Amino acid sequence: MAFNNKAKKPISPSQSYLCTTLFFVVLFTIPALFLLHVPTTTSICNSFATHVNTWSGDLRTALFAWNRLPFIEGHPPPIPLKIAVFSRKWPIGTTPGGMERHAHTLHTALARRGHQVHVFTSPPPKGNVPMPGNPSSSPYIHFHEGEPGQWRYNKAWEQFLEENQRQPFDVVHSESVALPHWIARQLQNLAVSWHGIALESLQSDIFQDLTRKPKEPISPAFNKSIQGVVPKVLNEIRFFKNYAHHIAISDSCGEMLRDVYQIPIKRVHVILNGVDDDKFGKDIKLGQEFRSKIGIPDNASLVLGVAGRLVKDKGHPLLFEAFSKLITNHSGVYLIVAGSGPWEQRYKDLGSQVLVLGSMNPSKLRAFYNAIDVFVNPTLRPQGLDLTLMEAMMSGKPLIASRFPSIKGSIVVDDEYGHMFAPNVESLLEVLETVVREGSERLAQRGKACQEYAASMFTAPACSIVFFPSQRT
Ligand SMILES: *[C@@H]1O[C@H](CO)[C@@H](O)[C@H](O)[C@H]1NC(C)=O
Ligand SMILES: *[C@@H]1O[C@H](CO)[C@@H](O)[C@H](O)[C@H]1NC(C)=O
Ligand SMILES: *[C@@H]1O[C@H](CO)[C@@H](O)[C@H](O)[C@H]1NC(C)=O
Repeated sequence: MAFNNKAKKPISPSQSYLCTTLFFVVLFTIPALFLLHVPTTTSICNSFATHVNTWSGDLRTALFAWNRLPFIEGHPPPIPLKIAVFSRKWPIGTTPGGMERHAHTLHTALARRGHQVHVFTSPPPKGNVPMPGNPSSSPYIHFHEGEPGQWRYNKAWEQFLEENQRQPFDVVHSESVALPHWIARQLQNLAVSWHGIALESLQSDIFQDLTRKPKEPISPAFNKSIQGVVPKVLNEIRFFKNYAHHIAISDSCGEMLRDVYQIPIKRVHVILNGVDDDKFGKDIKLGQEFRSKIGIPDNASLVLGVAGRLVKDKGHPLLFEAFSKLITNHSGVYLIVAGSGPWEQRYKDLGSQVLVLGSMNPSKLRAFYNAIDVFVNPTLRPQGLDLTLMEAMMSGKPLIASRFPSIKGSIVVDDEYGHMFAPNVESLLEVLETVVREGSERLAQRGKACQEYAASMFTAPACSIVFFPSQRT
């Protein structure tokens, strides 16, 4: 074994109650899990978002999303931890992908709270000179040597061992398979975050192929993907068990890890993504201004919105066809498209009831969400959990979304929050007709419920716990 997890620092008798408690940290966008000592039963008083009054027990065995626990800011003060993070990339200047954004938001926030965070990652892109590393202010970024953006886990592992020699890490966090399983298996204090697993891709591939028209040929790339997905699932089931702790970012993923991947319950933890509530929120005036600025007439009866890359696997063929049918009978219904991609021109061809506005930065997106009555996400490939769904809810908007287990299990958990459809044109059109019938007032009511749910589950305050050595009473 190349790595030996050293014994913890001695703890004074007055603090010894800590030894039987579970510490953890959940911050902003997600999970980090810190299992310091083996707990017996921890008692945590709290109320659920769903109004269950109290819950107590060993948090590691909890099947529900940790987001349901209310967080007590700053009390008792968090115990500073030394945390190692393995991430293939660390965002610097460029537009980061979801996984890097997760790593960055979470670990920067942890560092701000006084934890000593060391990030092990690939060299930054050329021309982007990172801030010089400074061991006294964390997160301390260890770029390994080599080509920019080329992840070499063995180089990162060497740097980790060196740093671990100096003072052992309390917790190690791997963003997906950044740390491969044959190395990860040596670490008992490791948690891995999964941003989508192969079993989810299997369903997504099925949905995508079913949208193919009868005579439309299957693309070689997609054929290859669909042929390879079952072996991929089997492979994952065989190697996932090598990771000590798993963080699922949706309830359904947690369920799959427990029930299909057969990972013991105590090692699977569900922590949903969150969104920055500074960036998204309800603002009626902003929405009205945005509407008139982009030219939606005052007598519009309903405004739908869709955001993201305009590509096939995000379900745009479905929305395009369903919406083009819808407007033949509803001249007051509009669609705002916030995004760019191959389907842009086709949307433009639908005429004046579709406004194609291109990609938006967060401040423009905030106005976009406020301008619409209902948000449509027709995705056929939900990667983990799509942040746009949470952003729309935070802005007080109900949803129309494809019926995927992740969305059904963690987002549209109540009929009040919107409508789900089977990923085909008929089903989507039926739902669109339903929201047109309901009208904007009813949708605003649903939106209010969405906002309350989102605030209780996905906001930074709700997710910004830290710690919990709860004293036994
Ligand atoms: C898909 O891939 C399989 C296996 O590689 C092959 O036998 C089949 O002909 C391919 N089908 C199409 C339509 O390309
Ligand atoms: C439009 O309305 C007419 C008459 O009410 C109906 O016959 C037709 O099926 C509708 N078309 C669509 C696409 O809903
Ligand atoms: C909205 O008003 C315009 C002119 O002011 C009119 O041409 C159009 O038919 C109206 N649309 C609806 C849905 O009432």
